[in-house]
Amino acid sequence: MRLVILGPPGAGKGTQADYIIKKYNIPHISTGDIFRENIKNKTELGNKAKSYMDKGLLVPDELVIDLVEDRLNKEDCENGFLLDGFPRTVAQAVSLDAILDKKDKALTKVINIDVKPEILVERAVGRRVCKSCGATYHIKFNPPKVEGICDKDNEKLIQRQDDTEETVKTRIKVYFEQTAPLIDYYKAQSLLLNIDGQKDIDKVFEDIVKGLN
Ligand code: AP5
Ligand code: MG
Ligand code: ZN
Repeated sequence: MRLVILGPPGAGKGTQADYIIKKYNIPHISTGDIFRENIKNKTELGNKAKSYMDKGLLVPDELVIDLVEDRLNKEDCENGFLLDGFPRTVAQAVSLDAILDKKDKALTKVINIDVKPEILVERAVGRRVCKSCGATYHIKFNPPKVEGICDKDNEKLIQRQDDTEETVKTRIKVYFEQTAPLIDYYKAQSLLLNIDGQKDIDKVFEDIVKGLN
């Protein structure tokens, strides 16, 4: 399975990705996670990306596309992958088609998680992530067993730098301007799987699996 998961900030892409990659045994490639890892390690790429991410803006295409191509050339992508947060512009989608074309491969499906803008802010602002393993929680919708502590490894939960109300609103605006056009792009290729992302986490996953089978 060569999959893309698409949707606005806070739609539940990362949450569903965790389930999908386990079920289909494919690597999870999140460009947002790759940038955050680079920021943590203070790399040159991390420094460049941070200036955009902190404002809620997209990192320029030229910093993203080569990075994804390199990642897709790794051996663990031979039998498929799940791209989360890429592509995010039509230029990125065109490049992805070209990258796969070179390998004589194509996408299997594009999962589009649909959530109303009103709900997204609450989802993102209430999100907490484990600073060690990256597990994602929500203070109201998916709380950990002990407040502020990861269920999996007892590490501290933190808030993402870009999860302030103001930045989330910018991210949502940027999504509708620059990323939402991809819905039509993939509809035209008959790849789109529309999923109602406002149901419970388990139900959303059930719908994705049904749609992929
Ligand atoms: P990225 O990390 O990709 O962030 P995003 O797209 O804004 O999406 P999020 O990770 O915020 O949301 P999600 O859909 O994964 O939701 P989650 O599952 O966590 O990108 C960050 C930044 O990096 C960008 O702004 C940009 O600057 C840069 N970047 C990354 N890729 C780029 C690219 N290709 N090009 C250019 N720039 C790029 O869920 C959210 C919360 O809701 C959680 O708390 C969760 O527990 C809860 N939740 C999930 N599902 C449900 C449900 N069904 N019901 C109730 N609560 C739920
Ligand atoms: Mg995410
Ligand atoms: Zn953890």
